[in-house]
Amino acid sequence: IFTQVELAPADPILGLTDAFKADTRTEKVNLGVGIYKDESGSTPILKSVKLAEERLLVTEKSKSYLGIEGVEAYNRVVQELLFGAEHDVVKNKRALTAQAPGGTGSLRVAAEFLVRNTESNTIWVSNPTWANHQNIFKSAALKIEQYRYYKAETHGKDFDAMIADLKTAKAGDLVLLHGCCHNPTGIDLIEAEWHIIADLCLEQGLVPLFDFAYQGFGTGVEEDAQGLRIVANKVPELIIANSFSKNFGLYNERIGAVTVVAENQADVTKAFSQVKSTIRGNYSNPPAHGALIVSTILGDSELKTLWQSELKEMRERIAKMRGLFVETLKSEGVKQDFSFISTQNGMFSFSGLTKEQVAKLKDDHAVYIVGSGRISVAGMTIENMPVICKAIAAVL
Ligand code: LMR
Repeated sequence: IFTQVELAPADPILGLTDAFKADTRTEKVNLGVGIYKDESGSTPILKSVKLAEERLLVTEKSKSYLGIEGVEAYNRVVQELLFGAEHDVVKNKRALTAQAPGGTGSLRVAAEFLVRNTESNTIWVSNPTWANHQNIFKSAALKIEQYRYYKAETHGKDFDAMIADLKTAKAGDLVLLHGCCHNPTGIDLIEAEWHIIADLCLEQGLVPLFDFAYQGFGTGVEEDAQGLRIVANKVPELIIANSFSKNFGLYNERIGAVTVVAENQADVTKAFSQVKSTIRGNYSNPPAHGALIVSTILGDSELKTLWQSELKEMRERIAKMRGLFVETLKSEGVKQDFSFISTQNGMFSFSGLTKEQVAKLKDDHAVYIVGSGRISVAGMTIENMPVICKAIAAVL
């Protein structure tokens, strides 16, 4: 049977890492996948995570199964991080959260739950969006529509086009929204636009599905939740898929969560029972370690403060690299204006480089970025900056 199977194309993001590893050139740089690097070019384990792990080594008593929804304390702290402890959704118990394997696992659980139990079978995603969204939603048999989001000529957002496209969506359709640090563009909605989106969802009966993978990488943990909270204030039903890969540096622990918000407790209880049934049919119940780390940190004021300062350090280093990137391009003689890169949020910069230029960067200069022109600024350092900018200047 396997002779008939067609070879799958390499993954647009993780496939690049495979190619990078196989590259024998010494001065190679990987700015493909979104992984934070410190100034020395490594991805360290956060101090707050190490301290939590030390505690867990002493206090953990059993490796028995978790419940289908995962660690209870974790699910509570996730909701507080998303909404704030005083939000109506939390206080009136209108939300239920299940731990899930990273952002991808959370999105997949959400999508399968929706397809199996509701009439919502179409999802609207931004153009462009994270390369894996199509794959996840297709795997769950959702029909995918696109709304315009990015305007190439201005390197900015096309909010009017976004609204015009979403106005054509039907009641019950899902709308994928990036909570903050839009991937791949780094261009976010502003407060007034979040209100307009929330009103539009309410008026048209659209159901927001938030992909929230970068909380704390934009402006701050609370500030980055503004859009989600505005929408949750107005729209009675929504789903959030969040991830702690980036903001806790827990990439390989695969730790995220899917949170269902309903109009009332009775509805959320029913919906959540089906989320659990979806999980049971996929991977039965989640692994514990990542959730125990996150709940240990967020449940302890000292560890939480340390984590917040470490997150701030990551955020500020990326911002510094954005500035340095723009400056170094200039000093390498690039005439084109790249100042828009300084105004983008999060780990990525949407450079506007063409597919051909991206291919040349890889083939001629061993600089790896995603085919869409997305560059991981989080992988830049003072040391590799001249190599990157010289290569970009050459392909331009
Ligand atoms: C990215 O966009 O680079 C990250 O979210 C990693 C991934 O899984 O694609």
